Amino acid sequence: MDDPFDLSQTNAYSKWRARKLRAYPAENADLRVPVGRLDQPTPEERDALKTRIDTFNMALVAVDPAEIQTETLLAFTRALGLRRADANLFADASAVSHIAASRTHPGRPHSGRTHSAGPNPGDETRVDTDLEPPGGTTLGEFIPYTDKPLSWHTDGYYNTTDEQVGAWCLFCVRAARHGGENGLIDHEMAYLQLRDESPQHIAALSHPQALTIPAHVQDGRTRRAESVGPVFSVRNGHLHMRYSARARHVLWRDTPDTHAARAALDRLFSRPDVFTFRYKLRPGEALVSNNVLHCRSGFDDDEDPAKARLLYRIRFLDRIDLD
Ligand SMILES: [Fe+2]
Repeated sequence: MDDPFDLSQTNAYSKWRARKLRAYPAENADLRVPVGRLDQPTPEERDALKTRIDTFNMALVAVDPAEIQTETLLAFTRALGLRRADANLFADASAVSHIAASRTHPGRPHSGRTHSAGPNPGDETRVDTDLEPPGGTTLGEFIPYTDKPLSWHTDGYYNTTDEQVGAWCLFCVRAARHGGENGLIDHEMAYLQLRDESPQHIAALSHPQALTIPAHVQDGRTRRAESVGPVFSVRNGHLHMRYSARARHVLWRDTPDTHAARAALDRLFSRPDVFTFRYKLRPGEALVSNNVLHCRSGFDDDEDPAKARLLYRIRFLDRIDLD
């Protein structure tokens, strides 16, 4: 059977590669799908979403901002074939995480960082805030997240290999005053660029011990188990990527090939020929994706929490399925 992700199948890869590249260069407008009712997308809207997902592994949904309500979002994600939510500690009962920057004092945003070692600038700090909210935060309250930049990653890279995140959906209720723009790269395009550079990069990043996220232990208690796995894996015929550009609290397999592949991946993010979408969600807009690579710029928020940036996010173990 044709498997473009098998390094020995160069013909299958060439065909797949040509098909992927036909869609580029692409613009944000190419991702956009207006939807009338989130809880009941029409067959035409579903078709339009399917085309975007099949082509880019992501779509930019535009609805009336009044449509962004928990029950409606869940009806929409069900329509996308998403059923198994990745229930992290601070998702509410409906698995919808409310993402807002934390504030230590009214009107004074702070980083939401809770890890004692502290993140490097540009580290993806969300992993720590996911697991350790500042004292007093409880399930169901707004989740404190950082207003600092988040570096390139896919979601759930610290999950076990059995509980990898297949898809995430991010709905914008309110945008930040300045900043808060996402960068997005179809992870299949990252694979393509790396494989073109050297199939050895793919081999190294597909090793089952390529990337380890150490256990998170606090006061002798394991808050999250160690996560060991590949960066690239093929799940039910689909390419999955597990990645974080963060410099701390990650262990890469210590071989020359792994280091070379990691460096090549780092370089991708500043290459102009890698097709990066950059977009700041506006109220009523949503990104839905098969867990593509993404980052986010820092932002400056309104001092009034009622006007500050607010996004709803749901992560799923499933991939989007519109067949
Ligand atoms: Fe993320």
